Amino acid sequence: MGVYEAAIARRSIRRFKDMSVPRESLERCVNAARLSPSGANLQPLEYIIVDDERLLPQVFSTIKWAAYIRPAGDPPSGKEPKAYIVILKDANAKAPWTAYDIGGAMENIILVALEEGIGSCALLNVEWDKLIMILNVPSDYELSLLIALGYPDESPVEEPFEGSVEYWKDEQGVLHVPKKKLETILHWNAF
Ligand SMILES: Cc1cc2nc3c(=O)[nH]c(=O)nc-3n(C[C@H](O)[C@H](O)[C@H](O)COP(=O)(O)O)c2cc1C
Repeated sequence: MGVYEAAIARRSIRRFKDMSVPRESLERCVNAARLSPSGANLQPLEYIIVDDERLLPQVFSTIKWAAYIRPAGDPPSGKEPKAYIVILKDANAKAPWTAYDIGGAMENIILVALEEGIGSCALLNVEWDKLIMILNVPSDYELSLLIALGYPDESPVEEPFEGSVEYWKDEQGVLHVPKKKLETILHWNAF
């Protein structure tokens, strides 16, 4: 799968097969994040991979899924993520551009995972205080983003945006995700 193909095909996945994700794949994702662009090359990010069967339900309990359609977007029992990658930031890293680093690392993780057939969902609606305790994160680190991973057990589809950004599920349980059309957001040479 080429990078463009992966970027086009990628949709957030919230329903996963009961198949564990190989550790080598998870490590490849973090290695790709390690080499992502970094403002002033400060590299303030670190990562926790969670794949321990005892920890997975605890991490899962901190997540709020698909706010527009809650609770229809919650992974059903047995279809929960099989791994997580947590992006952490050095709390002393005060550069105002760190959020860009996090976004770049996120996308590298998501695309490298997808190349191996692994689906993912970036998550910010998380009970961070609880997750800090679960993962034993020291006070000089902040949690920036959680990424849920696993082999997809759903195939969400892109829909043309027609005034609402809210995704929906149809009677078959397929998730439809509105996306703005290229001609409405692309400007050549000047606005
Ligand atoms: C920064 C960020 C935070 C997100 N947080 C959540 C979240 O807390 N819960 C959730 O279910 N999805 C979350 N998502 C996934 C978005 O809902 C999803 O990207 C959006 O609906 C578009 O769908 P798509 O990823 O399939 O294109 C997040 C995505 C991003 C980029």
